[in-house]
Amino acid sequence: MHEFKYKNNQLYCEEIKVQDLAERFDTPLYVYSYHTLIDHFQKLKTAFHSINPLICYSVKANSNLAILKALVDKGAGLDIVSGGELFRAIRVGCPAQKIVYASVGKTDREIEEAIKRGILFFNVESLPELENINCIATRLNKVTNAAIRINPDVEPKTHKFITTGKLTNKFGIDFATARKILLVRDKFSYLNICGLHIHIGSQITESAPFVSAIKKMVRFINNLKKIGIRLEYLNIGGGLGIIYDKENPQTAKEFAKKILPLLKKTELKIIMEPGRFIVGNAGILVTKILYIKVTARKKFVIVDAGMNDLIRPALYDAHHQILPLHNQSTIHNSEKADIVGPICESADFFAKERLIPKVREGDYLAIMGAGAYGFSMSSNYNSRCRAKEVMVVKDKAFVIRKRETQEDLIHNEIIPPFLLGI
Ligand code: LLP
Repeated sequence: MHEFKYKNNQLYCEEIKVQDLAERFDTPLYVYSYHTLIDHFQKLKTAFHSINPLICYSVKANSNLAILKALVDKGAGLDIVSGGELFRAIRVGCPAQKIVYASVGKTDREIEEAIKRGILFFNVESLPELENINCIATRLNKVTNAAIRINPDVEPKTHKFITTGKLTNKFGIDFATARKILLVRDKFSYLNICGLHIHIGSQITESAPFVSAIKKMVRFINNLKKIGIRLEYLNIGGGLGIIYDKENPQTAKEFAKKILPLLKKTELKIIMEPGRFIVGNAGILVTKILYIKVTARKKFVIVDAGMNDLIRPALYDAHHQILPLHNQSTIHNSEKADIVGPICESADFFAKERLIPKVREGDYLAIMGAGAYGFSMSSNYNSRCRAKEVMVVKDKAFVIRKRETQEDLIHNEIIPPFLLGI
């Protein structure tokens, strides 16, 4: 469910016509629906209320301060992967005890900052990293919590670039090594190794891979109990898939039904790290048609957004639904076209051979499901200013990120004196 709907053939975000937003704020423009965002967070919370998990929204999905603040205000914690994300989390007032920190490559400076802030725990991805965190905690004389990220070796049936829980992926620690570490956990005198973590991949549309991974975890936790190793937390990661096209993903309720009995067995405090599920369908990218180019082989609809604004189609061949803002056309006057951006790469496309209603130059299009891994993966490639972002709350629209200026593009660049003849 989301709040982008046609009313009288006009696409609305909540109570505002998207056309009005495009004209008022210019394009390319990211538009978020506040109520869709909150609704998805609440859906997950409600589905799992019997175990009252800590839901740590995964900042990487969309790290705009307004999105983070909206969720933190509703009680969300945050899942971070860098010093920059920690900075954002603190900036929006997220309590440090609701922050969990994963990443295979945490630097000393990042670790130190997170320890000083007193985050809930690190999700540790290797033995050398565990030793390093212990070392830094010792130097800072501050005992720190850690969870071991397990690589459970399950197939999540998603795109290979977003598969993370197979032994061929760089993430996590295998069960046998984790067991060995836990057996000597007292050796890490400044670490309280109190939890386990998994995150098997992203855009997973079935429950089966989650069930299979969690079952493995339950077995492991029970075996640990038998040898006197007791833990406090189980972090089951993120990964819940959403509808982009014809997917039929599990709802929060169905997901909960499948995994709650397993989670209850662990008797541990549960943490979740959803990103896409919360923000994916809460955002769209609005773009204007610049030119329609008809060649002997194809029709190209050239728009003013590019792969620098939304890289998912180029990177993962991802499908995003693309809708006109006026829905007056029928399938009879639809035609196949490639919808492409202005960037000098053939991978700069949003759709290929897509059946779309007849459109004209100057019309706007809405690229749906762009809330997650849209703006947060955007870049300045081709020296393009990054898009403006607005958040709609009923009949009000708030700018939550200004459009970048050309001055912003060169802000950090320095021409050395010798090139200036000085
Ligand atoms: N926890 C960890 C440790 C993660 O690495 C991720 C995502 C999440 C949670 C949140 O996963 P989600 O619930 O959003 O699936 N750029 C890709 C997705 C990369 C996901 C990276 N990790 C895309 O656009 O599909």
